[in-house]
Amino acid sequence: MSRIVIVSNRTPGKGPAAGGLAVALRKVLADQEGFWFGWSGKLTDDPSPEARIEDIDGLSVAQIDLTRDDHHAYYAGFSNSILWPSFHLRLDLATIESHWYEGYRRVNAQFARALKPLLKPDDIVWVHDYHLIPLATELRSLGARNRMGFYLHIPFPTADALYAIPHHAELMRDLSRYDLVGMQANRDVAAFTEFADHQAPSTFGATQAAVDIDFSGTEIAAFPIGSDPDAFARLAASPAATKMIHRMRRVLADQRLVLGVDRLDYSKGLPQRVEAYEKLLANNPRLRRTVHMLQVAPPSRDSIKEYQEIGDTLDAMCGRVMGRFAEPDWQPLTYVKRAYGQPSLAGLYRLARVGLVTPLRDGMNLVAHEFVGSQDPQDPGVLVLSRFAGAAEIFPEALQVNPFDTDETAEALRMALDMPLDERRERWGALMAAARRHNVDDWASSFLQRLSPGMASPKTSKRD
Ligand code: G6P
Repeated sequence: MSRIVIVSNRTPGKGPAAGGLAVALRKVLADQEGFWFGWSGKLTDDPSPEARIEDIDGLSVAQIDLTRDDHHAYYAGFSNSILWPSFHLRLDLATIESHWYEGYRRVNAQFARALKPLLKPDDIVWVHDYHLIPLATELRSLGARNRMGFYLHIPFPTADALYAIPHHAELMRDLSRYDLVGMQANRDVAAFTEFADHQAPSTFGATQAAVDIDFSGTEIAAFPIGSDPDAFARLAASPAATKMIHRMRRVLADQRLVLGVDRLDYSKGLPQRVEAYEKLLANNPRLRRTVHMLQVAPPSRDSIKEYQEIGDTLDAMCGRVMGRFAEPDWQPLTYVKRAYGQPSLAGLYRLARVGLVTPLRDGMNLVAHEFVGSQDPQDPGVLVLSRFAGAAEIFPEALQVNPFDTDETAEALRMALDMPLDERRERWGALMAAARRHNVDDWASSFLQRLSPGMASPKTSKRD
């Protein structure tokens, strides 16, 4: 049987696996054999060209170190100051330093040189996310002829935003070196196809040579990622979750909880969300003292200026809402810049009357899935969801909003808080069924099945 090789910037760490994605991919490796390859998290002056192979809780993980300068250009630079903002249509927040591209390519070439000697001819290589777009090109230039698939976890940009990325033509050609490119949502496949069908090399700019791109050997399809909603249901009833629920109940008393959980990232629409909540309180005085908003926002990529600024903006906005509405015995909101483990989060999701998931643009957004999985079927909360998250294609029964329109979000919040139990149950039933249909195990097996059609898997389910 072919082995599976998973490649991503970050590799799973020791201890209980954090994300649902890591759990699902671990299962794939346990069923099929193979290993995970990525950056070790270490920076050294003189990294070894060979990967270190370690057994991490029964999983074989091969890792390389990077130099500080290369890592900066590759991660904080090209990946997170150019690709991330452009793919999320925030060109205003991009820092276009085109020399970062060289560091990005150097690191991809270093990944390829360390990975190639570990590959057997029939291994299937599955590369994850925007940090590693050129990896197939680099591996193929070293002679690798394996089946290779790429999965983009973030949205694919519109053509204009793509054109703003230095060397975008080379990046698109890099994607054509994969056998299969998977995207989160149909809108991403449509944006990609628009480029692939209509791209004109002459539009690449005066200083860039035309690049021939041939997508005839590359299949592009949407594989919307999911979670394990039944695992979240169990987690939400676990002792750790119950402890969190009791702690919160003591503080909340009868107030209903409006909950947001997001990395502190400008794509998540946090200032707009706080503004919508402020409008809810301003427009509906009867709701004051009956609700409490909790925003959990663990810091992320905080070496990058735009990420520091979003933290400052949010500090100021939360302070303003407090000053405007708080009373000696009532606080309208709590804002926690810290990460919590999955059991505590599952408890918070279950307790919340409203899950507020309002990114300005998002690949999928698994918080939406995890919130749905964690609900009490007898007394479920309501999902208020941005129509610009990939999850909007999966969850039509959520209260969908335009997150830029804070009046609309405020009104959706009011509807969610006033929603009768019958309607909450009905909507949640449909959301839970959708979350189950789109679970992460089926996501992984359907991608791999498409990448390597001969590979039988009992869990495989076709999406199209
Ligand atoms: C997003 C990306 C992932 C990334 C994660 C955390 O979900 O799609 O590739 O790992 O954010 O970001 P970080 O920069 O901390 O790895």
